[in-house]
Amino acid sequence: MKRLSQTMIATAVAMTMTMATFTASAAPAKSKKHADHALKMRKAVFSLLGSNMGPLGGMAKGKIPFDAQVVETNAKRISQLSLMMSDYMKTDTSKFKLKTDALEKIWAENMKFEKKIEALTIASNALSQVAGSTDEKILRKAIGAVGKTCGGCHDDYKSD
Ligand code: HEC
Repeated sequence: MKRLSQTMIATAVAMTMTMATFTASAAPAKSKKHADHALKMRKAVFSLLGSNMGPLGGMAKGKIPFDAQVVETNAKRISQLSLMMSDYMKTDTSKFKLKTDALEKIWAENMKFEKKIEALTIASNALSQVAGSTDEKILRKAIGAVGKTCGGCHDDYKSD
């Protein structure tokens, strides 16, 4: 009986792991229309990332005054957007001619790409944690850490 339940647990674990692998893996776009749509959606996610990072970068560079409320709001949004990124990058559009800066290796190096996404989630959550700080040095450092994860992925997976 004990041996049976162990086998069942092992099977359940194996099944869960297989499902997790499937969830993370990319699927090729089925048509040009499908690829165009996927591109539009992923660009929307990145545009919103840019829009939320802009003011934070401005604060870190001393171009605009620090505003704790904006830091908190934007850090949360960036974290949320980072959680969407994987899903919106799932469609492998590399077979189609698109106006994109996304490098094809994104879909060949799925696990590495996921790590870059995870780094953004971690950094933006860390920024959320210190958003209320009155120490500009701490804020600047945490914003810089988020920016580094943007650049860290762009360096490897974005064409410009
Ligand atoms: C895991 C990888 C990754 C991370 C992390 C990442 N990006 Fe990007 N980003 C990309 C890729 C790939 C593209 C190109 C998308 C395309 O053209 O299809 C892109 C494109 C963009 C664009 C251009 C969007 C457009 O309309 O062409 C902006 C703006 C942008 N990213 C901002 C950011 C900011 C700000 C961060 C951090 C807060 C960030 N990204 C984090 C991979 C990443």
